[in-house]
Amino acid sequence: MYVLPDKYRKGFIKMDNNRYSSNRPRRKVSRRTYRNRRLAALAIIAFLVLILIVLIANACADDNEKKPSDSKSGTTITTTTTVTDEAIPTTVTTTVASTVPKNDSDFKLDRQTISIMVGESDMPRVLEYPDGTVEDDERWTSSDKEIATVDDYGHITGVAPGVCYVILKSAADLSQEVWIKVTVRSELSDDETTTTNMPQSNRTEAPAPPVHDTEGLTYINGVLLVNKQYGVPATFEPKLEQICYDKFNELSTAAAKEGLSIYISSGYRSYSDQDRIYNNYIEDEKKKGNSEARAKEIVDSYSARPGYSEHQSGLCIDVNTIDDAFGYTPEAAWLAEHAHEYGFIIRYPLGKEDITGYQYEPWHIRYVGSKIADKIYKSGQCLEEYLNVG
Ligand code: DAL
Ligand code: ZN
Repeated sequence: MYVLPDKYRKGFIKMDNNRYSSNRPRRKVSRRTYRNRRLAALAIIAFLVLILIVLIANACADDNEKKPSDSKSGTTITTTTTVTDEAIPTTVTTTVASTVPKNDSDFKLDRQTISIMVGESDMPRVLEYPDGTVEDDERWTSSDKEIATVDDYGHITGVAPGVCYVILKSAADLSQEVWIKVTVRSELSDDETTTTNMPQSNRTEAPAPPVHDTEGLTYINGVLLVNKQYGVPATFEPKLEQICYDKFNELSTAAAKEGLSIYISSGYRSYSDQDRIYNNYIEDEKKKGNSEARAKEIVDSYSARPGYSEHQSGLCIDVNTIDDAFGYTPEAAWLAEHAHEYGFIIRYPLGKEDITGYQYEPWHIRYVGSKIADKIYKSGQCLEEYLNVG
């Protein structure tokens, strides 16, 4: 066996001594002590790994709690709302995590947002079921039972102030699910009850729009009605009404404070503007191979004929992108929830197509003033229902 020459062995010993900066001989450690130390070291490492695993598991659990659903969770946005209590002059800042309702399913509901008081109940109506599924397959759950509960039939009851989601799934096809945003407000005190319809302190009331003394316009209970039955004269050219424009700017500024961008994409249209728009749509549909009659049938479901567009009244605005995808944006959710506070209504709501004559248009808002907008918002009616026509 090769034996290291002494001079080299000394070198090693020297190095060793230097490292421990001591010249004293190293203490001999028994095999048992050595084994015990190794076991102790292993135990400490195992303990640290265990703590790490627990910490990671907790972090994942927190993340999951924030999601009311799994694969189909929508975009989560966090908004900071400043609530000022008039009686107690302090400003409380609360952070509300809200998730944009998503509906990739074939369920059709009359509403995807519900606003109730604590103790109050409401129920969205299911207008259409996904293919092969029936009413009995409905499965209702709440993302937060401490805010709102839901029973097997979809009755939603407010438990405590806050925002949560009620999720409707089909037991026959679990990939079919739709979320309903539920806002639960606190019970009103007697004082508050008398001022329910008053604008909040940081907003001014949105007054009723001006009334024009023009022949050919139809006012019902003071509200200008423009729809498939009631048109406006081709010569009526009010431009975008100033109050409508001003209140839209207030609305847009309020949305911007929550990080949302709501802008005008189409406002006032003259008779000739609407004529051009309607006929362009007809040409587009014909290019797709539709006959003249079929093209008209299709276009009539989403565009008004010249003389019958609310855009000619100067009282409505199309915001952002005019397509169905807009309905799934945070801007659309905010608009549905807050437009009435600025005097606007969603003019062509989901589920009211047979009454309004038009497809759901989450982007088309009509100015009616905050008193009427508030009533329409709370009643869930469309304008025709509110005015008791058609
Ligand atoms: N899109 C609405 C109905 C209009 O054309 O006025
Ligand atoms: Zn429009």
